[in-house]
Amino acid sequence: MKKTIIITGIGGMGIACARRLGSGYKLLLCDFNEQQLSNVSAELTIGGYDVTTLKLDVSDKASVEAAASKAVELGEIQAIIHTAGLSPTMSSGERILAVNLIGTARMLEAFEPHLSPGTVGVFISSSSSYLSNNLTPEQEKEILRLSADELLEYVPTMGLTDPNTAYPASKKANRLQIAAASVKWGKKGARIMSISPGVHSTPMGKQEQEAHAVMGYMIDNTPAGRVGTAEDIASMVEFIISPAGNFLSGSDILVDGGVVAFLQTSAIK
Ligand SMILES: NC(=O)c1ccc[n+]([C@@H]2O[C@H](COP(=O)([O-])OP(=O)(O)OC[C@H]3O[C@@H](n4cnc5c(N)ncnc54)[C@H](O)[C@@H]3O)[C@@H](O)[C@H]2O)c1
Repeated sequence: MKKTIIITGIGGMGIACARRLGSGYKLLLCDFNEQQLSNVSAELTIGGYDVTTLKLDVSDKASVEAAASKAVELGEIQAIIHTAGLSPTMSSGERILAVNLIGTARMLEAFEPHLSPGTVGVFISSSSSYLSNNLTPEQEKEILRLSADELLEYVPTMGLTDPNTAYPASKKANRLQIAAASVKWGKKGARIMSISPGVHSTPMGKQEQEAHAVMGYMIDNTPAGRVGTAEDIASMVEFIISPAGNFLSGSDILVDGGVVAFLQTSAIK
């Protein structure tokens, strides 16, 4: 019986993960954008993948619970790859927090009852979470203490209305959420990790590059000497999920070609 891999966010990174990891599994692809889902599903199905799609809004409790139910209905869950997210140029601060921060809390709550030994979660954070320090210790505590429903009331009080501050804060929160979740997941024989991409040439990455000149500066100074690709993330997801990654749990892997190292060390000099 085939196991299921669920991927949320069928944009640049989600598609790369589906292609790289989907062979031999039931792929459940979930996204807010139904046209995108239909296009990607048609292409992957022609390519021999076993694809099911579901419209998902990760900020919506019922929608996330429906995705979790669908995933287990298809078969035991091997991996949960959560890439769905919004960047600063895509929405308001409030919506970014609802999708990136509360959406992650909803994903964790909805999938926890369906974990089995060997299930691996990989949730996508961002290198921006290393570059700004905009969550107070009190906020970090509350993010980990409160349920997703409670966060709905708390998050608007955090004062993060500017998308450019809401985004890195939401991604820093994601790293904490994943670290905390790993403790619960471990009790079920499951693992969960986050990955923080740098600047990657996906639809989202390109939109941010056009809006923020600093992204060009970051690419020009990336020690790896190039912009990231979606495949750079998919290959790290593959490693985390594989037996070679089975001592990885509760931490974050920065896959940014070294740009955070460049920015942090040039700030010290
Ligand atoms: N591309 C980069 O340079 C970069 C850098 C750092 C972090 N990230 C993070 O990586 C992840 C994937 O980014 P990407 O570059 O593949 O972006 P993308 O825009 O290509 O794909 C994101 C997908 O998420 C979907 N989505 C948005 N809101 C949703 C919602 N409420 N419910 C369900 N789906 C929703 C979109 O429809 C889209 O298909 C995101 O979480 C992003 O914040 C990307």
